[in-house]
Amino acid sequence: MQKYYIGLDSGTQSTKAIIMNTEGQVLGKASRSYGLIKGLPVGHMEQHPEIWIRETLAAIREALDVSKIDRNNVKGIGVSGQQHGFVPLDELGRVIRPAKLWNDTSTAEECRIIMDRLGGLEETVKLVGNPMLPGYTAPKILWLKRHEPENYARLAYVLLPHNYINYMLTDVAVMEYGDASGTILMDVKTRRWCKPVIDAIDPELDEKLPMLYPSDSPVGYLNPKAAHSLHLNSDVLVSAGGGDNMMGAVGTGNTSPGKVTVSLGTSGTVYAYSKKPVVDPVGEVAAFCDSTNAWLPMVCTMNVTVATEQVRGLFKQDYKTLEKKLSDSPVGSEGVLFLPYLTGERTPSMPDSTGVLYGLNPVNYTEANLTRATVEGVTLGLNYGLNRMKELGINPSEIRLTGGASRNRVWAQICADIFDTEVVGFKESEGAALGAAIQAYWCDGIENGSGEAISAITDRLVSVDESSRLSPMKTNSTKYKEIQKHHDALRDQLFR
Ligand code: XUL
Repeated sequence: MQKYYIGLDSGTQSTKAIIMNTEGQVLGKASRSYGLIKGLPVGHMEQHPEIWIRETLAAIREALDVSKIDRNNVKGIGVSGQQHGFVPLDELGRVIRPAKLWNDTSTAEECRIIMDRLGGLEETVKLVGNPMLPGYTAPKILWLKRHEPENYARLAYVLLPHNYINYMLTDVAVMEYGDASGTILMDVKTRRWCKPVIDAIDPELDEKLPMLYPSDSPVGYLNPKAAHSLHLNSDVLVSAGGGDNMMGAVGTGNTSPGKVTVSLGTSGTVYAYSKKPVVDPVGEVAAFCDSTNAWLPMVCTMNVTVATEQVRGLFKQDYKTLEKKLSDSPVGSEGVLFLPYLTGERTPSMPDSTGVLYGLNPVNYTEANLTRATVEGVTLGLNYGLNRMKELGINPSEIRLTGGASRNRVWAQICADIFDTEVVGFKESEGAALGAAIQAYWCDGIENGSGEAISAITDRLVSVDESSRLSPMKTNSTKYKEIQKHHDALRDQLFR
């Protein structure tokens, strides 16, 4: 009997569902788009978790219809979600207010307060592996306490976006290690809640934190309501799930040492599997856990397709035109530099920074240069993070590209040139959804079957698309090294 697994990636701009068989083939997929709550002050980024549930169910139903598979043979669902979002629930499991998201930068003051109470940034890193940065979950909890005390008084459970979707599917509220590491309430070394950090927010907060949960165990099985809504049996297992980057690591085969993935999505991330925690004493590289019970040192920049979508909207470009405009402009965009901090920046931490166009003159002020400078700007930002990872000993021989924008060939060449490393993509560019389906398959194997190791499964099911492999062009890489210096210097002069 063929078995099928559903992978769901609930993101900031859309939810994607895929149906995968045990050979890793994607038999059906569907995607549903949505936006953020409008009209909030600058820096506040929120969404209502109800939207995620509605679109999750709709996307899964559509992907199942497209796949035309026998629904009786669906054995598992894995959920990937945007990291760090704070879903506050009351005693009855109802959402108290919209979730503040990973790209919300309104909590700089709360970060300062918590770190002061803990003795500073370095002490915080020693305690949990990471500093408090706006975007992470812990400062959002203190924000609620300080700014909305009546809502805080109702707080009974703290969940992350993917945990909330799991809860709606199974009635079980737990927090898987990988995503939990992004709360900054868990010590990544021991995978336990960290009492000093909890006390710096509220000594009673530990009663509101869910059980920490291993990545290879099922959180439960579909509840009758979800099973009915999806026209599935209630024996469908829901795996632990994880943050989108953790699931992207699985979906790009990054489950053993030596690989580096770069994800080009709303945010940009660079990450690598590690058998032990990798802690950056200055906290620029995040010391996260992965969603296979290992670790995932990672760098996140906040504006990747945020910035390119802005350009596309401004010049009314479709994706083909964007690619064409990129090749119409030379390396370095004829001197135009773009600092892409439209929604502030996490790496380096500059929550109040803004976007900057620099170096314009009457000759270089063209659509092609503005487009290329945007793509170069976001990629140089990621390369700053990659260089920091190299300083911590992570040295990639190739970089695996994932995320929607990785399909753009000219951008992929810009990546190869700026990273000065070979890049390669995948036929399935939605690595997080694929990773979620694979985690469900792994988990089902442990519960009911083979018990095959995750790295063996990804080696078998995830293969790079050799036709997409690109090498760096040495003259371009040399030019980009100079441009990187200007980019970083301008950034430091303006915002640090
Ligand atoms: C990672 C991060 C983002 C979100 C995007 O730390 O904040 O990549 O996970 O959904």
